Amino acid sequence: MSVEIAASCDTVSKVYKSASGEVHALTDIDVEFPVGQVTAVMGPSGSGKSSLLRIVAGLERPTSGWMEVGGVMISTLGARRRRRVRRRLVGYVFQRPSDNLISYLSLLEHMHLAARLRGRGTSDEVDEVLTLLGLAPRRGNLPHQLSGGEQQRAAFGQAVIGDPALVVADEPTAELDARSGASLLGTIQRLAHAGTAVVVATHDEAVAEASDRVYRIERGELVR
Ligand SMILES: Nc1ncnc2c1ncn2[C@@H]1O[C@H](COP(=O)(O)OP(=O)(O)OP(=O)(O)O)[C@@H](O)[C@H]1O
Ligand SMILES: [Mg+2]
Repeated sequence: MSVEIAASCDTVSKVYKSASGEVHALTDIDVEFPVGQVTAVMGPSGSGKSSLLRIVAGLERPTSGWMEVGGVMISTLGARRRRRVRRRLVGYVFQRPSDNLISYLSLLEHMHLAARLRGRGTSDEVDEVLTLLGLAPRRGNLPHQLSGGEQQRAAFGQAVIGDPALVVADEPTAELDARSGASLLGTIQRLAHAGTAVVVATHDEAVAEASDRVYRIERGELVR
């Protein structure tokens, strides 16, 4: 059985230019993210994980190489079209819960807003996702009325509503204790196996072990 690929990078490189010179953050990265699987990107601090995830999510363009998601070559698009494609095809979860949630919106309002921005996702689907995440009883809560683990699950809820081709999460368990981390991990697996491609950057070996595939990068290069 062939695996359906939701997104892929082809010889992606990223060079940051700053006053102190050039940083070669990524060099010739080839990776694929299959539908229905969790893919972990691992590597030491500064190895290029976040740089790769931002490119995969279409938040930034590679310096060279190609990034394709949901059949769209997103790396060659200008900022406006990239944003439009991103909203439709990619869910992104920031590491810090406070970057994912708006303090005065309830969980349910977050979900409806995310569905509206994606242009997809009915009320029934919102209910389904909240139930899958174990958050249905918390639907009326504001972010500060949720635990850290619940906030991270809520962020995943927003990222997956409307069935994006790809969900990208930068160190989603970094700020959680082992138990909340394990619970979030279970949720991530369920979401992926329901038919989404999920990419997580992580330092956490437990996350890597629970992933369907693992890419390791060191100093911006894929380690085989
Ligand atoms: N906007 C930027 N301008 C210049 N250099 C950058 C920029 N963003 C990242 N870098 C550099 O690129 C390299 C890779 O950074 P990146 O954030 O991708 O690493 P990381 O693997 O996510 O690290 P961490 O585990 O600490 O989050 C680092 O040397 C970093 O200093
Ligand atoms: Mg990082």
